[in-house]
Amino acid sequence: MLESHVVTISRFVVDQECLVPEATGAFTSLLQDIALAAKVIGREVNRAGLVDILGAAGKRNVHGENVQKLDEFANRVMYRALDHTGLVACMASEENDDYIPIPEKFPAGDYVVIFDPLDGSSNIDVNVSIGTIFSIHRKITSGERGTLEDCLQPGSRQVAAGYVLYGSSTMLVYTTGAGVHGFTLDPSIGEFVLSHPQMCFPDPPRRVYSVNEAYFDRWSQGQQRLISHLKNDGRFGSRYIGSFVADFHRTLLQGGIFMYPSDHENPSGKLRLLYEAAPIAMIAEQAGGRATTGLQDLCDVVPESLHQRTPVYVGSADFVTLAEGFLNETSEI
Ligand code: AHG
Ligand code: MN
Ligand code: MN
Repeated sequence: MLESHVVTISRFVVDQECLVPEATGAFTSLLQDIALAAKVIGREVNRAGLVDILGAAGKRNVHGENVQKLDEFANRVMYRALDHTGLVACMASEENDDYIPIPEKFPAGDYVVIFDPLDGSSNIDVNVSIGTIFSIHRKITSGERGTLEDCLQPGSRQVAAGYVLYGSSTMLVYTTGAGVHGFTLDPSIGEFVLSHPQMCFPDPPRRVYSVNEAYFDRWSQGQQRLISHLKNDGRFGSRYIGSFVADFHRTLLQGGIFMYPSDHENPSGKLRLLYEAAPIAMIAEQAGGRATTGLQDLCDVVPESLHQRTPVYVGSADFVTLAEGFLNETSEI
């Protein structure tokens, strides 16, 4: 028996589309295709311990990182969910060195989809939450099919951004610039149903900071002073999962700040701008928070290459502003 107020992601996106006069239904179809990919990836994530899909694929990606089998599987699922739809001009993925053109045998569309097919891969084998992150732009070049130039757009030009969290439940959270909405997969009906409408950072926020403190000695003095300040404050707790999607989702729900700073060995930090930082930054801003490199808003950074990295400070606005003060030596200590 269907509960009267169950709103599926399909129904929600169609209702949202009705609010946009020039909407053609293309974005609605695109989001439904991404939701389908999320269900397929989620099914394998939840079976990872039961089928031979755990462990490394024996390959390294462009970042020199060990590619896990589930990374490759998720990458294929995202690609195959979108390549034939006629909605996509081109794609880009953490797992592909170059941008991904749409095969000539398929029609191309207006959207550029850039994704981290599986975020938090190092946690796969230890059964810790992992995720998928996606960023959606419109093609800006005049040709029929997308090019690398269409992928190198700043976060401020995203038309949508979202993530899937494969945790104690599977959630899909996205924004099109009209607020942030969360959907939880109901396995009994195979549908993402609206569970978190209009998500906003809580006010007052929980005082939680999230950073990998093992790198403390490699940080700038400003970063070190920031963490010491948070510790000395006496009211802050610390949480760090090591999956960006999971750490951010907790920060969005409870408040706080997530940081992945640059350090002497990684002057641009570890997280990638196009398919990790920029989509999460759009969501954070739409939820009333902030996202910065420490020097400028993350959504203002103009990408120069597909896999470029950036420092990330994202979360409750006041805490991100406090962090900027320490990083730029102007904070009131
Ligand atoms: P990915 O698995 O897509 O490479 O991303 C992993 C990232 C991110 O999820 C997380 O915040 C960060 O790596 C953790 O890095 P450390 O292990 O250096 O803390
Ligand atoms: Mn990632
Ligand atoms: Mn990844």
